[in-house]
Amino acid sequence: MKALMPAPIHPIDVILHKRNGQPLSDAEIQAFVQAGVDRTMTEAQIAAFLMAVYFQGLNPAELAALTKAMRFSGETFDATPLKTFTVDKHSTGGVGDKTSLLIAPILAAAGLAAPTPEGVPGICVPMISGRSLGHTGGTLDKLETIPGFDTQLSMPRFEQVLRQCGAALIGQTPRLVPADRILYGLRDHTGTVESPYLITASIMSKKLAESLNALVLDVKVGSGAFMPTYALSKQLAELMVATGEREGTRTVALLTSMEEPLGRFSGNWCEVRECVDIMKQDRHPMSADLIRLSNTLAGWMLYLADHADTPVTGAALADEILTCGAAFEAFLEIVQAQGGDISHFEGEANPADFHQPAATTQLLAETSGYLSSMDCKEVGWAVQRLGAGRLKPGDPVSAAAGIEIHAKLGDRIQSGQPLVTLFADTEAQLAEPLAMLRATYKITPEPPTLHPMIREIIVKKD
Ligand code: URA
Repeated sequence: MKALMPAPIHPIDVILHKRNGQPLSDAEIQAFVQAGVDRTMTEAQIAAFLMAVYFQGLNPAELAALTKAMRFSGETFDATPLKTFTVDKHSTGGVGDKTSLLIAPILAAAGLAAPTPEGVPGICVPMISGRSLGHTGGTLDKLETIPGFDTQLSMPRFEQVLRQCGAALIGQTPRLVPADRILYGLRDHTGTVESPYLITASIMSKKLAESLNALVLDVKVGSGAFMPTYALSKQLAELMVATGEREGTRTVALLTSMEEPLGRFSGNWCEVRECVDIMKQDRHPMSADLIRLSNTLAGWMLYLADHADTPVTGAALADEILTCGAAFEAFLEIVQAQGGDISHFEGEANPADFHQPAATTQLLAETSGYLSSMDCKEVGWAVQRLGAGRLKPGDPVSAAAGIEIHAKLGDRIQSGQPLVTLFADTEAQLAEPLAMLRATYKITPEPPTLHPMIREIIVKKD
């Protein structure tokens, strides 16, 4: 008997099925993503599909199929030749969130201390990071303030750095998950960014393309988060955990508070500098929340990698690795292996002497009381407008722009004390961000009720 040819799948049928609430088959989703990458359908059709998904959502099988089709839409990183445990962390974006710059060296140091029989670090972190997006900063923009640091390694070089250092931090290449670049580009101007299903497929396709054994997700909640409500952030976390676990990657999500910038600085070079200070045992009090969150996330990663009995002992181990200097040594190795100049971090060099801002000003408290609230997203936008972020893709970012935080939520404030120092490349760039910060920093006579940093932990449902 003659084998039957599968019926051709037309993009318009996929769009109509989704629009009408009919479940899509794996084959339909696969064909649709492929047609998007091959450019054999119009952008209007992709946009219509995205809007249909925005309103109808995706069932678990559809979400798994979309994530998989996107993950395998181009090149992937194959970690199997390394014969090690691969683990990564992803944050859904925050203000002053520089945990990756601490976590990658912490995990690398743990992996280097426990090599496999083949001599590869026992844990590897193949971190593929992003650039500044909207009001949030980007790990790549921060790393690229280190002269020479190459975030565009080829896959063979990426693997070499992992073998040598236990961690490598690069950007998405044009060939890695091309479907995400196409879909994300359209989502950005079709009002379809904030779909938990599309965000899950976007983030998880990129993370799963790293061939991970385990993944820890930091899903932000609060005024600085992408998702507008706690319930939506939790839904996003649950979808990402289910999607990762379905693909065989141990996945845990922590819902963490983003009501104020994390740590002491928000910007590009200043965030690198804050992490180097911490790794060199110079712990500024404003960095306490950053250190705690980094250790907590690293603790979960060490636990999932079987290097700690519990996430709590993992966090203690992470702190030990930070304080003994092993994380700093691993950081220097990674920077050097990726072509970066370490002279600003070594010996007596003070990173604060490099990338000095040409213009600064301060936000001073107008009354006494307690720092009680701020719109953290607005603070993020102020940092971007100082020059740390971009108005459109491809714009250059300033290495020196950013802010230094002098008070945290709940702190007692005296009238006239500095709350924030702003840095920019020109005086003209200071006025608008200063006004934005003045409008959003609220001081009240009574102390505020604050949320804990870790709001909830989402693990696989049995
Ligand atoms: N970050 C991503 O990579 N994708 C999204 O959809 C949102 C945030």
